[in-house]
Amino acid sequence: MKKFIQSLPKVELHLHIEGSLEPELMFELAKRNKIAIPFNSHEEVRAAYNFHNLQSFLDIYYQGANVLIHEQDFFDLTWAYLLRCKADHVMHTEIFFDPQTHTARGIAFDTVVKGIDRALTRGHEELAISSKLIMCFLRHLDEESAFITLNQALAHKDKIIAVGLDSSEIGNPVQKFERVFKKAIDHGFKSVAHAGEEGPASNIRDALELLKVDRVDHGVRCTEDPALLAQLIAQKIPLTVCPLSNTKLKVYKNMTEHNIVELLRHGVCVTINSDDPAYFGGYMTDNFIAVADAHPLSKAELAQFTVNAIHASFISEQEKQPLLQRTLDYLEQN
Ligand code: HPA
Ligand code: ZN
Repeated sequence: MKKFIQSLPKVELHLHIEGSLEPELMFELAKRNKIAIPFNSHEEVRAAYNFHNLQSFLDIYYQGANVLIHEQDFFDLTWAYLLRCKADHVMHTEIFFDPQTHTARGIAFDTVVKGIDRALTRGHEELAISSKLIMCFLRHLDEESAFITLNQALAHKDKIIAVGLDSSEIGNPVQKFERVFKKAIDHGFKSVAHAGEEGPASNIRDALELLKVDRVDHGVRCTEDPALLAQLIAQKIPLTVCPLSNTKLKVYKNMTEHNIVELLRHGVCVTINSDDPAYFGGYMTDNFIAVADAHPLSKAELAQFTVNAIHASFISEQEKQPLLQRTLDYLEQN
């Protein structure tokens, strides 16, 4: 089964590029950019990755991003992630970036986008991995900062497919972002939001009703509200679930308690993703294996996660066809 999972074609829809910064690259960039970091070795960094909730992770994650300064740094970060995608048979990926984490440090929006985009373009040409870029607003910051960020994004509309919402869910309701999401949608951006990760099912309802999102990031707490669960199924609203993230951040005590397989069997358009793989102990294949180890799954069920992700992706129906074909061929031949 591990062999089947390793080579299974995959699609990733929930990946924070800053969360793919491995300790080795963090050290290399800190040295290159002469940035002091509060660790003496890779081992010390990994030892610090012991989280008890979302906020304890976010504090370390924002600190790690301080080593990213130049366009080349964003290129190197993204390229390293794409090589992991290649190894894990990821055909298509839709990645998040957090512009405010960088603009707040005086790094130009353009520098960030250009570095990431150059790597994604090369990934398409040299690794045959297609991709889309999603810009997240930080929900602990205010509406004005989100509007400034959206205005900066307008010059890069050709490179950014959607807006998203991440950072601390508790204490930062979506109401603050209703107007900025409306403006983004009016400009043609698609939209997603983190909801129902640590916060209650009502946050998922709010993201759907107030922000009008196309899909929900995490969303695992939907099972606490049967009417909402029925709505997600009926309206085919995708959830981008991140199993290793959820156990690392104590949303679930262990993988056996995770509801992802229950969601799949209920007919929710649920997908498997890696979130912040450098911090949570694994990329796409690792996440699939962690789920399959805790919950016996058939090969068809494992492939269904990819089929769901293809349907949930922001590529055209025409672009989806070869990905679906490759997945179904793989299932038939293995
Ligand atoms: N939740 C909220 N914000 C985040 C996450 C997450 O899982 N990862 C990076 N920023
Ligand atoms: Zn996330």
